[in-house]
Formats: sequence, C-alpha cells, structure tokens
Amino acid sequence: MYLLCAFLVLLSFGDSFHPNCPRRCSCDSNQSVRCYKLIEVPSWMPSTIKRLYISHSQIKNLKLSNITKTLALEEFILLASGTESIENDTFKTLRSLKTLELWKNKLRRIPTVLPNSLEVLKLNDNLINVLHESDFKGLKKLQVLELQNNMLSTLSLNTLSSLVNLQNLVLDGNNVESLIGPFKLPHLKHLSIENNKLHFLPGSLFSSLQSLKFLSLSGNSLTKIPNDLPKSLLCLKLERNQLQEVRFRDMKHLENLSRLFLSTNSLSSIEGAHFLPNLTILEISQNQLQTLPLRLPTKLQKLDCSNNLIQRVRLQDFQDLRDLKHLFLDNNMVSLFEVGALQRCVQLSNLALEQNLLLSIPLRLPDTLARLDLKGNAIKDIGEQELKDLKKLQVLNLRNNKISALDLKVLEGLPRLRHLYLDGNPWNCTCNLLKARQVLMAKGTDVRGGQCAAPAERRGESWMSSKNIMRHCEGHSYLTEKSKEIRKKLLHEDHSSIMNMDDEYYDYEID
Ligand SMILES: *[C@@H]1O[C@H](CO)[C@@H](O)[C@H](O)[C@H]1NC(C)=O
Ligand SMILES: *[C@@H]1O[C@H](CO)[C@@H](O)[C@H](O)[C@H]1NC(C)=O
Ligand SMILES: *[C@@H]1O[C@H](CO)[C@@H](O)[C@H](O)[C@H]1NC(C)=O
Ligand SMILES: *[C@@H]1O[C@H](CO)[C@@H](O)[C@H](O)[C@H]1NC(C)=O
Ligand SMILES: *[C@@H]1O[C@H](CO)[C@@H](O)[C@H](O)[C@H]1NC(C)=O
Ligand SMILES: *[C@@H]1O[C@H](CO)[C@@H](O)[C@H](O)[C@H]1NC(C)=O
Repeated sequence: MYLLCAFLVLLSFGDSFHPNCPRRCSCDSNQSVRCYKLIEVPSWMPSTIKRLYISHSQIKNLKLSNITKTLALEEFILLASGTESIENDTFKTLRSLKTLELWKNKLRRIPTVLPNSLEVLKLNDNLINVLHESDFKGLKKLQVLELQNNMLSTLSLNTLSSLVNLQNLVLDGNNVESLIGPFKLPHLKHLSIENNKLHFLPGSLFSSLQSLKFLSLSGNSLTKIPNDLPKSLLCLKLERNQLQEVRFRDMKHLENLSRLFLSTNSLSSIEGAHFLPNLTILEISQNQLQTLPLRLPTKLQKLDCSNNLIQRVRLQDFQDLRDLKHLFLDNNMVSLFEVGALQRCVQLSNLALEQNLLLSIPLRLPDTLARLDLKGNAIKDIGEQELKDLKKLQVLNLRNNKISALDLKVLEGLPRLRHLYLDGNPWNCTCNLLKARQVLMAKGTDVRGGQCAAPAERRGESWMSSKNIMRHCEGHSYLTEKSKEIRKKLLHEDHSSIMNMDDEYYDYEID
C-alpha cells in the first residue's frame, strides 16, 4: 500500500512536468517542447506549453489548426523542415505569440495573417521573392525582422510602413537591385542590406531613420556614399563596393560616427576624415591608396591601411593621433619611414609593417609597442639603436628578411619579449650566433630560428636546435658554466616539441 502510494505520488509528479509528451518530442519543462524528425505537428500538446521548437523535420505544408485553440504559445520555431507552404491564418489566433522563427525552409511568401503580439519574426533562408503591404499589417510590436538569404529583388519600403516599432531589419543576401523609399521606421537602430545588388540609392532614402545607429551596405556595387545618412549613426559599413571617392565634408553631420569600414573599394586617396570628430576605427584596407590619409581625426584608435600602394610614412601623417593603438600598414610598398614618425602615438601597441620594402627597422618607434611585425621586408641588420626603447615589446616578427647575424645587446634590451620570429633569414651560423641562442633560451623567449645559409657546411641546419653546431662551438670561451649546463640538457633532450622549426604556424596573440 505504502509503495503504491509512493508510486502514485511519483507518477503525478512526473505528469505535472511531462504530461504525455508527444512522440519524437522532448518536454524540457511543462512550458517547452522540442521535436525532431516530424512529418506533421502533433495535434495535441499539454496546454501549459509556451514554446514549441521543431527542427529537421519534413513538414511540407504546415497546419496547426487543432493546437492553436488550446495553447497560449509565445514562441514557435520551425527550422530546416522543408516547409513550402503554411495554411492561411495559422498563427492568427495565437494571441500571445511573441517570437515566430521559420528559417531554413522553402517558403515563398510571408505567412498570413500574423498576430499583433509578434515581436520577433525570422524568415531567413527561404525563397521569399516579394513582400506585400498586407503582410505586416498591424504588427505594431514587431522589433526584429530578419529576411536575409531570400530572393527579394525589388523592395518597396511602403510594405514595411506599419512596423512602427521595428528596431532591427536584416535584408542581407537577397538580390535587391532597387529600393523604393523612403524608410519610415522611426525606431530602427540596426539596418543591414549586405551582399545585394545595389548600384544606386535614391535620395532621402535614409533621412527619416532618426534612431539608426548601425548601417551596413557592404557587398553591393555602390559608387557613392549616400549623403542623406542619419545623424544618429555610430557605425557605417561600406566594404566591398565600388567607391572611388569619399567626400567627408558631406558627412560631417555624422557627429557621433565612431566606426567606418571602407575596405575593398577603389579609393585612390582619402582626405578630410577629420570632419568625423568621433571616429575611432577607420578601415581602408584593399584600396589603391598611394599615400596615407591626410588629416585624420584625433580620436582614432585603429587605422587599417593594409593592402594598398603606400610608399612613405612621414612625420606629418601621425602628428595628432595620441589615441592610436593599432596601426596596420602591412602589404604596401613602404620604403621610406621617417625617423620618429609615430613618436606622437603614445598609446600605440600594435604595429603591422609586414610585406613592405623596408631596408631597416624604423628608428624611434613608440616605446608602448607590444607587437611589431616586420615580416617580409628587406632588413639586413637589427641594431641596438632601433629596438632599445621597446621595453614592452612582446612579439617581434622578423621572418623572411635578409638578416645574417644577431647582436646580443639588442636581445638583452627587450625584457618582455615572448615570441621572436627569425626564420627565413640567411643566418651565418657562427659560434656568436649560438651565444645569442643561449641568451634567448635563458630569457624563455619562444623563438623560430630558421636555418643556416652560411658557412657552407652548416647550410640548411636549424641553428636553434642543431647539435652539430653546438658540438662545433664546444669549448669556445663564451660558454659560461650556466650555459654549459643548458647545453648539456639540450644535447640530451629532444627539443623538437618545444621549437619546431618546420612548423609553418607563426600567428600569435598577445594579452
Ligand atoms: C510549470 O512549471 C513551473 C516550474 O518549472 C511551475 O512553477 C508551474 O507551476 C508549472 N505549471 C503548471 C501548470 O504545472
Ligand atoms: C482535431 O481535433 C478533433 C477533435 O478534437 C479531431 O477529431 C481531429 O482529428 C483533429 N484534427 C487533426 C488534424 O488532428
Ligand atoms: C490565402 O491567403 C492569400 C492571401 O490573402 C489568398 O490569396 C489565398 O487565396 C488564400 N488561400 C486560401 C486557400 O484561402
Ligand atoms: C551624439 O551622442 C551624444 C552623446 O551620446 C548624444 O547626446 C547626441 O544626441 C548624439 N547626437 C546625435 C545626432 O545623435
Ligand atoms: C562627438 O564629438 C562632439 C564634438 O567633438 C562632442 O561634442 C560629442 O559629445 C561627441 N560624441 C560622442 C558620442 O563622443
Ligand atoms: C660569417 O661570419 C664569419 C665570422 O664573422 C665571417 O668571417 C664570414 O665572412 C661570414 N659569412 C658570411 C657569408 O657572411
């Protein structure tokens, strides 16, 4: 009797949490059901369910007729289920529905009729090719509308005009060629129309978006920056277009713009970015710039000018950039770097100069640098002069240059150095070089050393790990007692795991 009671109690307890969970479904709680591999939506569910999630099913034609009567669903999610059509008015009676996600299906139109309670509607990755004004009628609470990766080609923005509370609109990856404006969405904060086919934008398309903070038009074919952008913008992305010039003067109303992305366009010069006083990030990589931008805004923290045709870095280029932390000038044609050109950048921690035409390490770099990349230049010597002030340097990349010898004093003057890349240089493997190795090992620096180019009998050997060289240099006066110990250890251990010279991986992070 006692046992039976206990059993009944257990059963009823179980029931209250998972009362008759439908087949192929799991009921995470009394409010949430997840179902997989269905061919139709179960016709009955516990009435407490608020969240129904179905994925990886085969529901060609969605009908919910029976369950909508008994459930007060708040979230309905049907994804990757091959759904082509949805019975009219399926969601109409779900008056508590806040989130409707129907992504990765084969829908050709927006389901009719959607309940006014809706706040989030995600229809990405379907086959929707047209929007109707009636589709969104009455959706005054809708905040998020995602329609990326559909087949929209012409978009008349009237169709969105009832979405008076919309904050986030994503139209990426469609075939949109023309936008018939204007946008009348007073609360829109985030608008993304990336990877479409826009060549041209009509005037006053954006002017009434008085809350817009983020706008991305990357991956289109625009030749001009729209000049009716709203003043509220914080971030503007226009990468991968066909811009040939930027008229910053026409953008000066964007007083709060903080991030501007213009990489991969056809810009041949940049001048007047100082009209954007609050700009902190400017990316203009992969253009055709022959000179550094003139008159940069003083709050800039990151400037990416990589992959251009820049030849010179001059004193005046970085005069006022006291906040600059990251400077990318890699993959240019820099051969002239004026002494002290970055001296005023008293926060600079990251300087990328790889793949240029430098013959020596630039003099008087700021002592705040933590990372300096000079890979792939034509540097012959590392002098004490050039590096002695870089007390904070953690990563130094000198790979693929023309250096044959290392000055011990240089290495001793870099107390924080953790990663040193020296491979791809024509090392002259003298016993002096071996001495440098001892210093580096004692410091605990992780070194990619590379191979000897001279003398002839050492060619191809790795100078950081070759036992031959070590034996050869044995007995040389430089070997102190301590380094003799290290050498002994080296001879007995296999160091390939610590310093794998053939390892092609030399990317790195600093904290
Ligand atoms: C559903 O479960 C919650 C706890 O997860 C509980 O507070 C609530 O009373 C349950 N509702 C019903 C109708 O069983
Ligand atoms: C809907 O419910 C009714 C009775 O509640 C039942 O007869 C009918 O078969 C159900 N329809 C579906 C499609 O399950
Ligand atoms: C469903 O709704 C659409 C648009 O309102 C209408 O054109 C269509 O005829 C309706 N289909 C049925 C079966 O009622
Ligand atoms: C710019 O930002 C400031 C401070 O956040 C704010 O008070 C001001 O209204 C913004 N200006 C515009 C045009 O949005
Ligand atoms: C932008 O710059 C202006 C003028 O320099 C300043 O008044 C304003 O507060 C700045 N806004 C932000 C968000 O920093
Ligand atoms: C390598 O260094 C030695 C000793 O300093 C020097 O005699 C020799 O010429 C150098 N070899 C090359 C190829 O530079």
